[in-house]
Amino acid sequence: MSQDPERAKEQAGRHAAGYVSDDMRVGLGTGSTVRYTILELGERAKAGLDIVCTATSQQTHDLASSLGLRVVPPDQLGGLDIAIDGADEVDRDFNLTKGGGGAHTREKIVAEMAPRFIVVVDRSKMVDHLGPFGTPLEVLDFAPGLVADKVRSLGAAHVDTREARSDNGNLIMDAHFGVIEDPVWLGQQLKRITGLVEHGIFPGNLVERVVVADPNGVEVLTRFGPD
Ligand code: A5P
Repeated sequence: MSQDPERAKEQAGRHAAGYVSDDMRVGLGTGSTVRYTILELGERAKAGLDIVCTATSQQTHDLASSLGLRVVPPDQLGGLDIAIDGADEVDRDFNLTKGGGGAHTREKIVAEMAPRFIVVVDRSKMVDHLGPFGTPLEVLDFAPGLVADKVRSLGAAHVDTREARSDNGNLIMDAHFGVIEDPVWLGQQLKRITGLVEHGIFPGNLVERVVVADPNGVEVLTRFGPD
């Protein structure tokens, strides 16, 4: 029986909230899947769950605060116990494409603060290779054409600029590389472009587990197989 994709997002998002317990410092991602994690945490906080959070976007900050969760800047925490976020693509090695919502710079900072980074997705996000979604880039609005030239020299067929800016006030571009054979290498090359603030490729070694939902329910994957 087919299932509403929204229901799968809700199942994955709410399931991941189960990894959070009292006294944890929690990184909250951005997007329509992790939104359900935040809703679940908000409900649990009303029932007594005692956590402190940091948010990867203004949108997430506003949602979490409205639910009564305590949200503070990352610097105030220094480190996290866990971070939970969505993704646009997840490959077999847990490399991720992120930044569909343009929040990937803050998302990467927060993911890197946490020894446990949990990714929540519906099954449609699972891919053999990153690339078809496009690779989001946050770019300084000083010489975006020069940055785009350098991105094309790494193999992007085209680089498009979004109308919306990031929460940091920078441009968001999407680079189209086709199938990305070696996302870790590509991420390292993109990182070397001056003026490119951050790219949306997250290496799989950041990820502890992926919570995937589909019409059959929730499956939790670790890099070594099902949990
Ligand atoms: C935000 O910039 C993104 O990285 C999101 O985490 C990602 O796009 C997943 O969002 P959805 O859960 O809405 O698909």
